[in-house]
Amino acid sequence: MDFNLTEEHIMIRDAARDFAKNELLPGVIERDEKQEFPKEQIKKMGELGFLGMMVSPEYGGGGMDTVAYVLAMEEISKIDASASVVMSVNNSLVCWGLEKFGNEEQKQKYLIKLATGESIGAFCLSEPEAGSDATSQRTTAIEKDDHYLLNGTKNWITNGSIADFYIVIAQTDKEKKHKGINAFIVEKGMEGFEIGPKEQKLGIRGSDTHSLNFNDVKVPKENRIGEDGFGFKFAMKTLSGGRIGIAAQALGIAAGAYELAKEYSKVRKAFGTEIMNHQAIAFKLADMHTSIEAARHLVMKAACDKDNGENYDLSGAMAKLFASKTAMDVTVEAVQVHGGNGYVKEYHVERLMRDAKITQIYEGTSEIQKIVISRSILRD
Ligand code: CAA
Repeated sequence: MDFNLTEEHIMIRDAARDFAKNELLPGVIERDEKQEFPKEQIKKMGELGFLGMMVSPEYGGGGMDTVAYVLAMEEISKIDASASVVMSVNNSLVCWGLEKFGNEEQKQKYLIKLATGESIGAFCLSEPEAGSDATSQRTTAIEKDDHYLLNGTKNWITNGSIADFYIVIAQTDKEKKHKGINAFIVEKGMEGFEIGPKEQKLGIRGSDTHSLNFNDVKVPKENRIGEDGFGFKFAMKTLSGGRIGIAAQALGIAAGAYELAKEYSKVRKAFGTEIMNHQAIAFKLADMHTSIEAARHLVMKAACDKDNGENYDLSGAMAKLFASKTAMDVTVEAVQVHGGNGYVKEYHVERLMRDAKITQIYEGTSEIQKIVISRSILRD
């Protein structure tokens, strides 16, 4: 693994850093408080190419590699994890899956708009009873003439009300279990498709999370992705890459909190000196820095595996497991370094601590990552 970033990588990282500081930082506290979606900022992210970074230029994307993507994810997540989850879902769960497994018509009709940010995507797998146990789909898609009839409910869907196109996973043949699952592209506004209430969340409060209801929605047959019965594998393969994006998000949350804690320790005085001069604080910063570096290596390894055409199921799961734990540990310590101020919104670290928790839950809980990791290492 080459630890030196290319000039292009540095340019992308710096552009993401500047965008986060100039466009996302102003108003981030208010958006969190009001659960307000960063609509204008996401529009600008689309214009700058952050929503379809890895899509080939032929389909309106940036044609960049996964390393570039995780560098940008880290920088955006340092400031606003509600914006970076939109970026992660659109890039890795929606655009990547469509480019890899969609047919030419689907790419022309949907991918170009998604990659340029003209449209936003959502990935709908989770259900009230199918979170970790993703094979247990209750949403059904029954084949009828020239369409599938879609019925069911999806939960905790990122971009739930703001998305234009939704990739929906549903059971078409119960007898065949996971081999009878398919993935469909559903458009907002299709008859019978209703957006449920917005979730009131602990963290990433600016992101738009809803349940979705499908009541006899007629989905044209040409909107099925891949061969009949490919839906579960489609979801698993897509999520393997998605987990690298969330690992980068967790890394960014941790790094953002650490940077704030370090700066604070240089200006805040106690017992006659800056608190960085107390070993109690200096050692915390040493631990934070070390675990962030370790997380960054795992994230980069997973990104390099993907770029080099290696299997990244294991490295992506390890990166997400470790980086999300690092995000929790580091943000809790960052609040501690800030003392009373850490508990106050204007210092940002309490928000980062709340935002960190979801990285241990979505796109596969930490326990699911351990299933993926243990199965992989025990198979060898
Ligand atoms: N790539 C390709 N195929 C895969 C795969 C992968 N990474 N993982 C599993 N499969 C295949 C298996 O090979 C198997 O196929 P065959 O029967 O042909 O051999 C099939 O899928 C079933 O696999 P398992 O027997 O391993 O299935 P399982 O029931 O034991 O579950 C699991 C596997 C890993 C636990 C899976 O259910 C899982 O990942 N659960 C978590 C779901 C999840 O991540 N949800 C996140 C929701 S999306 C989200 O959060 C987005 C957002 O908005 C931010």
